[in-house]
Amino acid sequence: MKKIAVYPGSFDPITFGHIDIIERAVTLFDKVIVTVSQNFEKTPWFSVPERCEMIQSSVADLSNCEVDHFKGLLVEYVSRKHATAIIRGLRALSDFEFEFKMALMNRSLAEDITTVFMMPHAKYTHVSSSLVREVAGLGGDVSMLVPAHVAGMLKKKFV
Ligand code: PNS
Repeated sequence: MKKIAVYPGSFDPITFGHIDIIERAVTLFDKVIVTVSQNFEKTPWFSVPERCEMIQSSVADLSNCEVDHFKGLLVEYVSRKHATAIIRGLRALSDFEFEFKMALMNRSLAEDITTVFMMPHAKYTHVSSSLVREVAGLGGDVSMLVPAHVAGMLKKKFV
């Protein structure tokens, strides 16, 4: 049986930290579905198609990686896709409490789905989509934080 994992997130926008996680995940699973999901706590800057497009161009060379989006409960989506794992990145201890609660909630909703936490390279510990938006919005250089096409999308957004 193929091992399928879902990597959900807001990806508003995708960063080198996310890409680092995806590149590690595709070596562990037969297929990784990176899916733009709705976070009820956040108002996204980029539309779902824009975010999917940015992800797609960032993972184009990874043959076992798909890009998708969904609305609704994550565990239901994971089941529909016949996946058994949810991938989440952990950068620092500060991420842990939220991630821990979410993983336990997802497990209580679907016992057969396991959350797998992965750490990006230490050089991405400080990288988050919200800081990328802030730096880009204030005219700063984000070329070391996101791929060139994402930097271009950010620039367009703020012009
Ligand atoms: O990148 P984010 O914003 O930290 O990702 C959070 C996300 C989108 C994965 C989370 O909010 C989510 O799973 N949303 C889907 C709705 C859902 O299933 N909520 C219950 C989670 S316990």
